[in-house]
Amino acid sequence: MQNKTTKNVLLSGASKGLGLCICGKLLKSGYRVYAISRTLSGHLRELGEAHKGRLFFKEVDLSDPIGAANAVFKGDFIPRAFPLDAFVSNAAQSYEDIVSNIDEAKLEGMFKVNVFSPMLLTKYAIRNMLLNRRPGSIVHISSICAHTGYKGLSMYAATKGAIESFSIGTAREWGRRGIRSNTVSPGFMEIGMATSLSDEDADKIRRRNSLKKAADPESVADTVAFLISDGASSITGQNVCVDCGSR
Ligand SMILES: NC(=O)c1ccc[n+]([C@@H]2O[C@H](COP(=O)([O-])OP(=O)(O)OC[C@H]3O[C@@H](n4cnc5c(N)ncnc54)[C@H](OP(=O)(O)O)[C@@H]3O)[C@@H](O)[C@H]2O)c1
Repeated sequence: MQNKTTKNVLLSGASKGLGLCICGKLLKSGYRVYAISRTLSGHLRELGEAHKGRLFFKEVDLSDPIGAANAVFKGDFIPRAFPLDAFVSNAAQSYEDIVSNIDEAKLEGMFKVNVFSPMLLTKYAIRNMLLNRRPGSIVHISSICAHTGYKGLSMYAATKGAIESFSIGTAREWGRRGIRSNTVSPGFMEIGMATSLSDEDADKIRRRNSLKKAADPESVADTVAFLISDGASSITGQNVCVDCGSR
């Protein structure tokens, strides 16, 4: 029998990197997590075993936005009458190149994963929250490079800029129904997609920020956990930079 006071969170990109860290944080904080990604990693499986009955996984490919939204919301993973309290949109891909080399197919593929799927999942998450009368919270993971710029990341940063604007609009549109929307912009973390950086580039980034270190994924996950908590009930339409002071 499920505990009715346990809050339900949909989390994308939970298999590794920051998403795995957020997943662990939310499970430790007592949430029930509905995790999606293309693969069920060993680490995610271990989290499920450590938090029996509170982690549910579905294999979903966000490069097909309509298929992904249907898989999450039109089947038995998150049915209409199942109340969703939060959606954390963390999954993303990074297509890196200089602007004069843009490959249209790669650009479109990245926008499907980083922008179109998060938008469609937000649509159905909001419908679910309205139907079930939940004052839900949405958090999109952005990136500091949407604010600072970084050579080779213009296209990736544009997906994050798009999602930040989308979040501000969502906050305006649905605030009167108690639904909040915020973004979190991590700086360079020594995990996930940033591990492809050369030691020299990683060093340069660390030297440029105030704290002279990489952003800690735990600190980013704590920020996400705060934003979906009741403690953040007056915070919406904001972007929180967790970037060791790089602007
Ligand atoms: N790492 C950094 O320094 C950094 C800095 C700023 C912002 N960020 C942001 O932080 C978030 C997490 O990044 P990360 O570094 O942890 O990346 P990561 O290790 O590459 O993880 C990305 C996650 O997204 C999922 N994913 C990717 N493509 C997918 C698809 N087509 N369908 C479904 N799931 C997909 C992956 O799962 P599967 O492969 O199993 O599908 C994985 O769980 C992203 O939004 C990223 O933009 C990262």
